[in-house]
Amino acid sequence: MRPRDNRPARRQRIAAVVPAGDLASIISPMEGLLVASDVPLDKLSTWRAGGPAKLLVEALSLEALRAVVVRAREMSVPVLVLGNGSNILVSDAGFDGIVLRLKGELAKISLDGATLSAGGGAGLQAAASMTIKASLGGLEFAVGIPGTVGGAVMTNAGTRQGSVASVLQDVSTLSPEGTDVVFKEFEDRYREPLVPRGSIVTAATFRLESAEEQVLRTRVEEARSMRASSQPQGSATAGSVFKNPPGDSAGRLIDACGLKGKVLGGASVSTVHANFIVNEKAASAADIKGLMDLVAATVKSKMGVALEPEVTLIGFEEGG
Ligand code: EPU
Repeated sequence: MRPRDNRPARRQRIAAVVPAGDLASIISPMEGLLVASDVPLDKLSTWRAGGPAKLLVEALSLEALRAVVVRAREMSVPVLVLGNGSNILVSDAGFDGIVLRLKGELAKISLDGATLSAGGGAGLQAAASMTIKASLGGLEFAVGIPGTVGGAVMTNAGTRQGSVASVLQDVSTLSPEGTDVVFKEFEDRYREPLVPRGSIVTAATFRLESAEEQVLRTRVEEARSMRASSQPQGSATAGSVFKNPPGDSAGRLIDACGLKGKVLGGASVSTVHANFIVNEKAASAADIKGLMDLVAATVKSKMGVALEPEVTLIGFEEGG
């Protein structure tokens, strides 16, 4: 296992100082960018695992974001957009490129009548809470989903009460070439990206309907208490690990294989909900991925079902 990188993140406005290192120097100093080198990603992931990002860049404006994307492409430097880190596992080797986060202007939320606009880096829960306070219905299912708006669009995040696609009006993106592309039509497919992979969601608008605040709050409360009784609370997880196969439930299948409580290194299959893996004791990303592989192999051999990860895996061998 790779030793954990405990070096403190060096962070500065690169308009003032360009951090040392080849990668940092490829980005022209400009307003609206915050840059840090060798940043441990475990601190930015709800699973609390994963190696360092060679460079972490926070873009505070669309133009700053575009500049980074264009420059990274010119230099063939890989880019990974990180939302809230609540549905992703980066390997212990880390990410040898630029990890981008959308902040500032790109994380704002506003309401105009029954339309909510949010930056790709805005919190989905914060957006949903704003709509409830304004007595607008449609996004209340999202209270309790920890991701960003961008992450939610890239995974069509949802619960049994609804999914992002059902309330989405339009999505503004930056293409890998750095051009603005707006999407207005979406296919509501279970946990599939609503815009092409490789796009960066810079903003989204949601079409809502007026509703009674009390009715919305009751719905939120019901979902919250259901989660509290059926999902692990307060521990380091990434939500559901595998997608539900058509007509069945990953949690039911994993449970039926007797895997609840199964331990690998510091990771274990939750004893509360079998489709959650908990980082119990400083698990490495390899522990978590190893446990995922073990779970998938067991479900395949005992139940004949191939589970597909719901979490995004970065830096692991395909199929390994
Ligand atoms: N079950 C078991 N054992 C378990 C867990 C579940 O037998 O350990 C059974 C349950 O008894 C139930 C069925 O499996 O009959 C489905 O379980 P549950 O109702 O907990 O829902 P889920 O399908 O596992 C989905 C989403 C959750 C979302 C809930 C509630 C997926 C993969 N998961 O869970 O989303 O919170 O519905 O809407 O679609 C997430 O995506 O990260 C997530 C947490």
